[in-house]
Amino acid sequence: MDKKISLTGIKPTGMPHLGNYFGAIKPALALAQKYEARYFIADYHALNTIKNPQELRDLTYEVAAAWLSCGLNPENVLFYRQSDIPEIFELTAILTAFTSKGLMNRAHAYKSASEANKESGNDPDHNINMGLFTYPILMAADILLFDSDFVPVGRDQKQHVEMAADIAQTLNSNYKKPLFVIPDGVYDGVNESVLGLDGRKMSKSYNNTIAIFISEKQLRKTVMKIVTNSQDVSEPKDPEKCSVFSIYKLFADKEKQDALAKRYREGGMGWGEAKQELFETMNAAIKPMREIYDDFMADKSKIDKILARGAEKAREISTKKIAFLRKEIGIAK
Ligand code: ADP
Ligand code: TRP
Repeated sequence: MDKKISLTGIKPTGMPHLGNYFGAIKPALALAQKYEARYFIADYHALNTIKNPQELRDLTYEVAAAWLSCGLNPENVLFYRQSDIPEIFELTAILTAFTSKGLMNRAHAYKSASEANKESGNDPDHNINMGLFTYPILMAADILLFDSDFVPVGRDQKQHVEMAADIAQTLNSNYKKPLFVIPDGVYDGVNESVLGLDGRKMSKSYNNTIAIFISEKQLRKTVMKIVTNSQDVSEPKDPEKCSVFSIYKLFADKEKQDALAKRYREGGMGWGEAKQELFETMNAAIKPMREIYDDFMADKSKIDKILARGAEKAREISTKKIAFLRKEIGIAK
C-alpha cells in the first residue's frame, strides 16, 4: 500500500499543555489513523533553551509519556527521539550547504529575538546562539529525511515547514531529480490558538499554561487562576468573550456548551461556578489519560524500551535515505 506520510515533532521544553494537545498532539493522532505516521521528540531542538542535563532528561520523558497517554500506539506510529537518529544531523550538514543565510535571517524566531535586542539597546546578536539561527535547517532535516508528505503543526510553525519545502526544492533543482518529497503543512488542529490563563495565546513563553498531566488538585487550582472580568454573580455574561468558556468548548459537546452559554447569558452564575464546571468537565476527559501518564512516569524503563525500538525502526529508513543521498551528491561512489 502506497500510503502518504505524516510527520511531526515536539520539543521537550516543558510539560505539554492544552495548546500543545489541541494544536499539535490531537490533530497529529487523528492523521495517524489515515496516513503512515512518524512522530518524534525534538530533543536537540530543545537544547537551544534547556541547558540543564537533568531537566532535559526529565522533560524528554514527560513529552514521551504525554504522547503515549494521549493515544499514540507505538505499534502503528513510528515513535522515536531525534537524538537517536544520527542521519538527521548528517542531513542537516548537507542542507546547510544549500540554505542561504538570507533565508535564515527571515525566520521569525530569530528575527523577533534579534529585534527585541535592538529595541532594548543591546547588540542584535545578544544571547542568540547558532542553534536558534539554524533551527529551521535542523527542522527541515527532520522532515525531509523521512519523506514526509504532511506535517501537522500549529500555525506558528507554518514558516518553518515552508522553509523545509524551499530547501527541498533547491536541492531537487540543483540535482535535477526529486531527491526529496516536498512537504505540506497541516494547520487545522484548532482554528485559533488555545488561550492561556491570562487570555493571551497559551504558551510556555508567557507562563500562562495549563499543563495537561498535573494532579487533579493542581489542575483545579490552575483553572481557578484563569483571569476573568470583574462582573459580579447577578450580571449576565458573554460566553464568547471569556477564556473560561473558550477552553470549555474544547472539552464539552455541543449540548453542554449550549447549556453553559445559557447560564452565562441569564446571569446568576459567578466566575467560580463557571470555573468549577470547566474543571469537572476537563478533569473527566483528562483522568483516564493521566492514569496512563502516571504509570509511564512511575516506570520510565517502559518508555526507554519503546523509544529504543522506535529508533531501531526509524534507522532502517534513515540509513537507507542517507546512503542514497550520499551517492547522489557525490560524497559516496
Ligand atoms: P510553546 O509556545 O508553549 O513553547 P511549542 O512552541 O513547543 O509551544 O509548540 C508545540 C506545538 O504545539 C506546535 O505545533 C505549536 O504550534 C502547538 N501549540 C503551542 N501552543 C499552542 C496554542 N496555544 N494553541 C494551539 N497550538 C499550540
Ligand atoms: N519546531 C517545532 C515546534 O517548535 C518542533 C519541531 C522540530 C518539528 N522538528 C520538527 C515539528 C519537524 C514538525 C516537524 O513546535
